[in-house]
Amino acid sequence: MTFYQPAGNEVELFRAAAENSLPVLIKGPTGCGKTRFVRYMAEQLGRPVYTVACHDDLTASDLVGRHLIGPEGTYWQDGPLTRAVREGAICYLDEVVEARKDTTVVLHPLADDRRELPIERTGELLQAAPGFMLVVSYNPGYQSLLKGMKPSTRQRFVSMSFDYPEPEVEQVIVQKESGCDSALAKQLVDLATSLRKLKDHDLEEAASTRLLIHTAYLMHSGMSPVEACRAAMIEPLSDDAVTVNALMEVVYALFGQSEE
Ligand SMILES: Nc1ncnc2c1ncn2[C@@H]1O[C@H](COP(=O)(O)OP(=O)(O)O)[C@@H](O)[C@H]1O
Ligand SMILES: [Mg+2]
Repeated sequence: MTFYQPAGNEVELFRAAAENSLPVLIKGPTGCGKTRFVRYMAEQLGRPVYTVACHDDLTASDLVGRHLIGPEGTYWQDGPLTRAVREGAICYLDEVVEARKDTTVVLHPLADDRRELPIERTGELLQAAPGFMLVVSYNPGYQSLLKGMKPSTRQRFVSMSFDYPEPEVEQVIVQKESGCDSALAKQLVDLATSLRKLKDHDLEEAASTRLLIHTAYLMHSGMSPVEACRAAMIEPLSDDAVTVNALMEVVYALFGQSEE
């Protein structure tokens, strides 16, 4: 069973969307639980999930499928989207705005009430099986204007906005995920809260829940709090030495400097 700690009404919302065969869009910063949430919901709904990490070379064929050459000649191989459509599974496109524009051509008819997938290469027109659900996510922080989602795409989705959880919720997550005690979980969340408030450093992104969990893991394996924080929380945030040193000051204030 996958552990997922809800932060709001997202579980009910996803369920309602699934009941009505509506696609879902999740936006939010990295490491705030988007992928975990989709895995959890798939389990709750009893549907398989096919995940695609989108990148700027990802084409419609990567999603739909292609002809391959085997020992007995060419054969057709379904891509993850086609597989999900046939099986009534969830297809999860992570960082969907990275994908090439030609992917919207296959996504649009699937994301509205037609629920169909035209496979150009084979001439097939697939009707999505009942459980099929399209789920996409992206990080609005990384988005360039060029890559933004078109309104015609965005308006097809039930949308939810994720963020780093409230401190009480995040503490539960850190504790349950890493197995650390509640005192340490609270300290790490306090540290993250302080780091997230530092607006004067131009960090691309704030410390995520994922980083807190990694820090707790390292400490569990015997690293000192300061070493663990540096390696798992601070260095991943910035490549700039001045920024790293400034952020480490926050760590020293909380955990003391002596152990390094
Ligand atoms: N609400 C949550 N419940 C359980 N674990 C969470 C939650 N939010 C974050 N996590 C933890 O943080 C890690 C990163 O989350 P992930 O879903 O991969 O982030 P994202 O996909 O938003 O980048 C997960 O592996 C999990 O350990
Ligand atoms: Mg993810």
